[in-house]
Amino acid sequence: MPLTTYRTLGRSGLVVSPLTLGTMTFGTPRWGSPDEVSRTIFQTYVEAGGNFIDTADVYSGGRSEELVGKFIADQGLRDQVVVATKSTFNAQPGNPNAGGNGRKNIHRALEGSLRRLGTDYIDLYWLHAWDMVTPAAEVLQSLGDLVRAGKIRYFGFSNIPAWYATQAATMASIHGVPGPIALQLEYSLVERSIEREYVPAARELGLGITPWSPLAAGFLAGKYQRDGARATGEGRLSGPNPFGDQKFTDHNWRVLETLQAVAAQVERPVAQVALAWTAAQPGITSLILGASKLNQLHDNLKSLDIRLTPEQLQALNESSALDAAYPYGIFTPPVNRMIFGGVAVEGWH
Ligand SMILES: NC(=O)c1ccc[n+]([C@@H]2O[C@H](COP(=O)([O-])OP(=O)(O)OC[C@H]3O[C@@H](n4cnc5c(N)ncnc54)[C@H](OP(=O)(O)O)[C@@H]3O)[C@@H](O)[C@H]2O)c1
Repeated sequence: MPLTTYRTLGRSGLVVSPLTLGTMTFGTPRWGSPDEVSRTIFQTYVEAGGNFIDTADVYSGGRSEELVGKFIADQGLRDQVVVATKSTFNAQPGNPNAGGNGRKNIHRALEGSLRRLGTDYIDLYWLHAWDMVTPAAEVLQSLGDLVRAGKIRYFGFSNIPAWYATQAATMASIHGVPGPIALQLEYSLVERSIEREYVPAARELGLGITPWSPLAAGFLAGKYQRDGARATGEGRLSGPNPFGDQKFTDHNWRVLETLQAVAAQVERPVAQVALAWTAAQPGITSLILGASKLNQLHDNLKSLDIRLTPEQLQALNESSALDAAYPYGIFTPPVNRMIFGGVAVEGWH
């Protein structure tokens, strides 16, 4: 499948490629890429047909947005690309209204993003995270007004509870006003919690899911080796980074072992197989790739060609399976018998 196998993002008219270019590495000193490498990564992605660029106001203190804006302008690509950026995180220590999802901060943050990106509109504006206080109705009104004012075309939610997304999407649909079209959530073979609540909610509500850290910040590229309770190997996870070293757990090493076995069977790099598994999961529209080097992007774009067999998918699913958390643990055969009298019943999905 080529990168030009475009699809709509959720139940909307926004058309995006199956792999998004994440730009958290742009302008980032230790684990990011120098500016000229970032430019080549951007250029390679768009030349391959990619149209979906993800940034945020906090990435490298705004430098990522500046670089993305410059690369787009230098190539005259503004109409061709879907620019997504985010706000929520605080920009002025001590000022609570310079963070969060209240209307005052959303307007402040959006103006800053438009300036740094050198554009007068954002295609997809993400709430970067739940702020735990702003009511969903206020968020809907603020973002809906920005859609009507032409400053953003669509909006979506990242790192928020599934109930909050459901509340907002339901209110929007009842009132016939702009609602979220997508969720941006951490999802990979070693972080599958979204399967319990978010994936079914997104499918019911018509929201596309764009997973972040599909390689678990590089862990699933298989370049770290277990060394007792620690790990060796060079990359983002071997030094200070926003994700810490919580990836090096017994569970994750076991998942990696199965992934390495499947990658050997299909004779493809481990990272490509990890991406292919994530892309094949229900509800997933576009994986957000991260790359600190050009060869990583080349490698990861090739994941689109991989079709895993049912046996290979099953091996990966089993090694990474979630515990059956309450209440899902009770929806197993004995309870089914109690509900439908021993008759197998399939829902309409
Ligand atoms: N909404 C949110 O809260 C949130 C959070 C995080 C990220 N994001 C978005 O998601 C994007 C992707 O996240 P991520 O960077 O964490 O994704 P990721 O795919 O899990 O990790 C990418 C990192 O893995 C390593 N890597 C990638 N491909 C490789 C390959 N083929 N071989 C070996 N190593 C490889 C590189 O790091 P090293 O070379 O340093 O090892 C690269 O920077 C970000 O750019 C950002 O746009 C959003």
